Amino acid sequence: MKVLKTEKLSKNFNDIKVLEEINLYVNKGEFVSVIGPSGCGKSTLFKLITGLIKEYEGEVFVEGTESRSYKSPIAYMPQKDLLLPWRTLYENASLPLEVSRKSRESFKERIMPLIKEFGLEGFEDCYPGELSGGMRQRGALLRTFLIESDLMLLDEPFGALDAITRMDMQEWLLEIWRKHNHSILFITHDIDEALFLSDRLYVMTGRPGSIDLEIKVNEPRPRRREVLFGEKYMEHKRNILKVLKK
Ligand SMILES: Nc1ncnc2c1ncn2[C@@H]1O[C@H](COP(=O)(O)OP(=O)(O)OP(=O)(O)O)[C@@H](O)[C@H]1O
Ligand SMILES: [Mg+2]
Repeated sequence: MKVLKTEKLSKNFNDIKVLEEINLYVNKGEFVSVIGPSGCGKSTLFKLITGLIKEYEGEVFVEGTESRSYKSPIAYMPQKDLLLPWRTLYENASLPLEVSRKSRESFKERIMPLIKEFGLEGFEDCYPGELSGGMRQRGALLRTFLIESDLMLLDEPFGALDAITRMDMQEWLLEIWRKHNHSILFITHDIDEALFLSDRLYVMTGRPGSIDLEIKVNEPRPRRREVLFGEKYMEHKRNILKVLKK
């Protein structure tokens, strides 16, 4: 079943075409990435899918329903998601629950197990300024996970992290994804990251943003990082670079 599907999705900003006829889909439980150069319209694509931007051409279907009439929230972590600096980690995490009109007592039961699972136990009363970059990012992801939605849209969640932390976070995300069985659409600039994480990936080019290549990564999981040096991956990388350098 397709959790997300776009059909000929196009968007203009002030007569400039930013996205042109984007056709993509995410199957239930699938990890799909979108990779493309800066400015090709990736974040805009997410804003159309979540309904933050409502004017567009073409169609978006979430769980089979046209997104304009899809009522449930979609878990979305915007690029540069910032935890509110004046709220503790726990208070930041509780934000999506506060808007859900559930009782405050029920928050704790939902939040605390995730705090533990996300490796943030003992830090729940810290303010974002007292956490490391990787911890802040896990906190922002935790907040996204508290939105009850199968589909998760993650816009470059690891873009600001150093290479080593980033690799740890990728492996950790796969672990969490495996456990929770989400369907993920993931934006990244990083070819290795996309190939390591994804079942499938779309390669975009800019002006106007369009999908020029779709790659299916037939690599069993769990994957070891060494697969990135294998011949099959090298071939994928060559093909992606060909599109991005066009
Ligand atoms: N609200 C807006 N009004 C006008 N133009 C916009 C608006 N939002 C985005 N754009 C333009 O649309 C284009 C795509 O922007 P977008 O943020 O989607 O790119 P991106 O692929 O996410 O880039 P990056 O990889 O740098 O995050 C850019 O040229 C940007 O200037
Ligand atoms: Mg962006």
